[in-house]
Amino acid sequence: MQKKIIIAGGSGFIGKPLCSLLTNAGYDVFVLTRSPESASKALGNSAAPLLWDAKTSGGWAREAEGALAIVNLAGESVASGRWTASKRHEILGSRLNAARAVMDAIDHAKKKPALLVQASAVGFYGSSLVDRVLDENSPAGSGFLARVARQWEKATEDAESFGTRRAVIRTGIVLGDGGALKKMVLPYRFFAGGHFGTGMQYLSWIHIEDEIEAIRFIIERKMKGFFNLTAPEPVTAGEFSKTLGMVTGRPAWLNIPSWAVKLVFGRMGAEALLLGQRAVPAALAGAGFRFKYPRLEGALRDLL
Ligand SMILES: NC(=O)c1ccc[n+]([C@@H]2O[C@H](COP(=O)([O-])OP(=O)(O)OC[C@H]3O[C@@H](n4cnc5c(N)ncnc54)[C@H](OP(=O)(O)O)[C@@H]3O)[C@@H](O)[C@H]2O)c1
Repeated sequence: MQKKIIIAGGSGFIGKPLCSLLTNAGYDVFVLTRSPESASKALGNSAAPLLWDAKTSGGWAREAEGALAIVNLAGESVASGRWTASKRHEILGSRLNAARAVMDAIDHAKKKPALLVQASAVGFYGSSLVDRVLDENSPAGSGFLARVARQWEKATEDAESFGTRRAVIRTGIVLGDGGALKKMVLPYRFFAGGHFGTGMQYLSWIHIEDEIEAIRFIIERKMKGFFNLTAPEPVTAGEFSKTLGMVTGRPAWLNIPSWAVKLVFGRMGAEALLLGQRAVPAALAGAGFRFKYPRLEGALRDLL
C-alpha cells in the first residue's frame, strides 16, 4: 500500500500537528519547505523536509510519483499585519505559485498521486454581517479574501482531469496552541477582553484536532469535492468573546468600535475582523465525520 504523503507548507500551524498525526498513523510524511533547516527543527521526526522554491516543481517532482496524497497548505500568512498592496500581492501570488508548482508535479508524474487536498478558507463565501447559513453549495462571495480563495481553488481545479482526485478544504478559524487564539486571548489576560465592532459577525471556528482529523478522514475515506472544515456550531463574535471570558475567568467588556478597528488594522480589520461568515460542515457531517469538539466552550476549555 502506498503510504507517502507530501505536505506543501507543512511546517506551519496546521502542518506541524498534521505531520505528527499522519506519521503516528504509519504514513511516510514529507514536507515541502523553503527552509529545510528550520522546518527540520520544527518538525523533528514527524516529517522529512524537502526543499522547494514554492514556485516550481524543480528538484522535488519525482517525490510525487504515486504518492497517496499531496496536501497543499502553502501561502503567505493572511492574518499577520496590514493588507498593504505588496502584502496583498504576496498573499495571492504565493498561493497561486505554490498551487501551480504542485499541479506541474502532478502533470509530470507517470503514476499520478491519488489525491490532492487543496487548502482554502471559509472566506470563499465572502464576509458580511448576514447570518445566512453557508454550506459547500453556497456561492462564492466578494471581497479580497473571497477573491483569493476563488483563485486559489481554481488554480488546482484541473487535478481531476490529470487523474488525481481533489478535495478542497475551506477552513474556518483554527483554534489551537498559538495561531489566532493566542492573539484573541491576550487582552483577556489584561482584563481587557471584548469583541470587535457590532459583535454580530459570525465566526466559523474549528479545533486544531478536528481540523487535522478531518484531513486524515478525507485521505483515508478516499473522498473528493468541497468540505467546510468548521465546527457544526459557528458563533457570533459577541458569543465568542462571552465564552472566552467565561473560560478564562476574565471580563469581556472592552468592545472595540468599528472605526478603531479600521484605524488600526485597515482593510484587513474591515473585512476579516468586523465581518464574518456562518459556515457549517455539511459535507463532513454527511460523510459521517464526528467532531471531538463540536461546541466552542469545550474547545476553549481544552485549549486554555
Ligand atoms: N490557521 C487558520 O486559522 C487557517 C484558516 C483558514 C485557512 N487557512 C489556510 O491553511 C493554510 C495553512 O495554514 P497555517 O495556519 O498552517 O499557515 P502557516 O502557519 O502560515 O503556514 C503555512 C506555510 O506556508 C509556507 N509559506 C509561508 N509564506 C509563504 C510564501 N510567501 N510563499 C510560499 N510558502 C509560504 C511556510 O512554510 P515554509 O516557510 O517552511 O516554506 C508556512 O509554514 C494557509 O494557506 C492558510 O491560508 C488557515
